[in-house]
Amino acid sequence: SKNTNGFPEEFLWGGAIAANQTEGAYLKDGKGLTTVDLLPTGEKRFPIMKGNLSSFSPLEGEFYPSHKAIDFYHRYKEDIALFAEMGFKSLRLSISWARIFPNGDDAEPNEAGLRFYDDLFDELQKYGIEPVVTLAHFDVPVHLVEKYGSWKNRELVSLFEKYAKTVFTRYKDKVKYWLTFNEINMLLHLPFIGAGLVFKEGENIQQVKYQAAHHQLVASALAVKAGHEIIPDAKIGCMLAAGMVYPYSSNPDDVFDAMNKDRESFFFIDVQSRGEYPGFAKRFFRDNNIDLVMEKEDEEILKKHTVDYIGFSYYSSRVTSTDPEVLKNSTGGNVFDSVSNPYLTTSEWGWTIDPKGLRITANQLYDRYQKPLFIVENGLGAVDEVNSDGEVIDDYRVEYLKLHISEMREAIQDGVELIGYTSWGPIDIVSASTGEMKKRYGYIYVDRNNQGKGSLRRMKKKSFDWYRQVIESNGENI
Ligand code: BG6
Repeated sequence: SKNTNGFPEEFLWGGAIAANQTEGAYLKDGKGLTTVDLLPTGEKRFPIMKGNLSSFSPLEGEFYPSHKAIDFYHRYKEDIALFAEMGFKSLRLSISWARIFPNGDDAEPNEAGLRFYDDLFDELQKYGIEPVVTLAHFDVPVHLVEKYGSWKNRELVSLFEKYAKTVFTRYKDKVKYWLTFNEINMLLHLPFIGAGLVFKEGENIQQVKYQAAHHQLVASALAVKAGHEIIPDAKIGCMLAAGMVYPYSSNPDDVFDAMNKDRESFFFIDVQSRGEYPGFAKRFFRDNNIDLVMEKEDEEILKKHTVDYIGFSYYSSRVTSTDPEVLKNSTGGNVFDSVSNPYLTTSEWGWTIDPKGLRITANQLYDRYQKPLFIVENGLGAVDEVNSDGEVIDDYRVEYLKLHISEMREAIQDGVELIGYTSWGPIDIVSASTGEMKKRYGYIYVDRNNQGKGSLRRMKKKSFDWYRQVIESNGENI
């Protein structure tokens, strides 16, 4: 039911986290090593995320933030109690594939891993918090990278399908909302993060990326199929790193370029939601000598098992230009390249802040797919200082969120069907792009620094009460 001037009654307010950025306990209770466990902080991180990995085990002398993260594995009860205090209706989290199948290709799942998520879902249920579960959030069992070349290899499709079926069957009475691959389009930008891809000298990188993308798309459709069979009332979504690309000028070349850059991302969702490869993708493959290997059943699988809703993250919009002079002026720190937008400011990490872009993006996605949307990530990564009274006065965060939530309300008024909003990192967690703790998103502060020092104690920030009141008033009181 939609109420006429605000958020629907059953709107899923909450927060979003991912296993590798929160749990820690990286080898506990039988968990296998995952790709993210090989990402150190510092200068070596980015090249590995791009696909230049030199060792399949952690190296001496490096600091790997996922190994302990914020120790959610042991502290989730305390953390969930705090989420419940804010009134969360939902919590988005991911299952670590390597907790369930430590090597990815094991014959039997790891019972201790399955039990951990059982307990976690029970804890959420105690407070009436709806879990929204991502099957793959940036972590592939390392054994699959070593033995098969990860998503380059078709084998991953059935291994993933087996993993998906295992967790659907186990949690069918506890979890209704699912997402297949987190930010599936990230594969093109950070291929090791997105798909566990490691490139060899001389390899055709585009070819490998799109072949891996095809495998993920088929795996995603097969997961949708299995999910619907095993959990009849399941809602299974896809997940896009969204944020519209604006043309820098009205020059048709810029406009066309912006459209194309958006399509780089839409390509994935077009397949997951409309069930087929769009014409522009086929042309792109032709023009770039990309020759995808497909099985004859793939087209039908993709066509039949499309997603129920479109999940997306939104942090920024982007700007593109075809003018070499303009291109010189780009924003630093972004995972996606972007020209600086002269009308907007950026975060401390160079991410453009554009609240209205959220309304534009939501409308754009809804116009394109006509399916319910779910904003499964949004937020401001910022440096927080604990003051002498032991408080964190994070008004900048509240400001960011207020502006975005009010644009989200506008989007609903525009007719966009929106299921929920889970802001990113409701408790401070490890940053995916930099591995830092310093880049904080939370309403809850965690005492831990970039070097892994700190008591891990949790503490409410000023934004904690603000968000509680947003949820309590169903978005009226922001
Ligand atoms: C998204 C990811 O890319 O953005 C999250 O799905 C990530 O895993 C989030 O944490 C914010 O990025 P960062 O680099 O600030 O942690």
